[in-house]
Amino acid sequence: MIIAVSGKGGTGKTMVAALLIRRLSEMDRYELLAIDADPDSNLPEALGVKVEKTIGDIREDLLEKRDKMPPTMSWRSQLEYDAFGAMVETDKFDLIAMGRPEGKGCYCAANHVLREIIDSIAKNYDIVVIDAEAGLEHLSRRTTQDVDIMLIVTDPSKRGITTASRIKELAGEMEIKFKEIFIIVNRVTPDLESRIPEFTEGVDIEVIGTVPEDGEITEYDFKGRPLIELPPDSKALNAVNEIADKITSL
Ligand SMILES: Nc1ncnc2c1ncn2[C@@H]1O[C@H](COP(=O)(O)OP(=O)(O)O)[C@@H](O)[C@H]1O
Ligand SMILES: [Mg+2]
Repeated sequence: MIIAVSGKGGTGKTMVAALLIRRLSEMDRYELLAIDADPDSNLPEALGVKVEKTIGDIREDLLEKRDKMPPTMSWRSQLEYDAFGAMVETDKFDLIAMGRPEGKGCYCAANHVLREIIDSIAKNYDIVVIDAEAGLEHLSRRTTQDVDIMLIVTDPSKRGITTASRIKELAGEMEIKFKEIFIIVNRVTPDLESRIPEFTEGVDIEVIGTVPEDGEITEYDFKGRPLIELPPDSKALNAVNEIADKITSL
């Protein structure tokens, strides 16, 4: 199952992705892969892991060393080798970071091959969670083949919800296939909680859950602590746990 977390920048994609991974890993029955597909990357920090090399770095490296490679070594197998080497492995999940977006021109072949390699890596996992970049380019570039569940994170603003609807339309136009699409409304304050139905009126995407504004997250941000370590009574954590439970029982 491939879950993509998308939405505008700063809406809480990384927070949702990190806490989803925590819940899914606690279920103890899935091999999990996290893909950080946001060039403005912070999923590793939220998960408390360090990335030495991104897929972007590997692409750059290849362009440099291509001419010096022995003729017996294909650059494809070099890329494969390097991509596996770039994976961060923990006992709960593995992670791969895409890094800088691809450049133009001669990068094409390398990008195509890297895409295939990532697709084949992803097949080794039960669940892949993609922290997507804002917008939909990541999907048109086919970072991964098909998305089963698209989660659009939005703040509780009219503009945010309009963007969410647009993402669905755009995805349709670009012929991006997904089985399910849901909205997650993040940073909901207590007074807004009961008004969510009013706020999503006329939007034809189901709200799978809301996540409250959580002072504990602010505190963790302040200290630079990984969000995956939020205490079990965190309001946001419990809200994302419920969403994860809904997703796994779809
Ligand atoms: N429910 C919440 N309560 C408090 N702070 C939040 C909440 N959700 C996200 N944040 C904070 O808002 C900022 C943006 O969230 P982030 O997940 O990095 O967004 P994105 O990945 O979409 O750019 C981060 O500092 C994050 O910790
Ligand atoms: Mg992010």
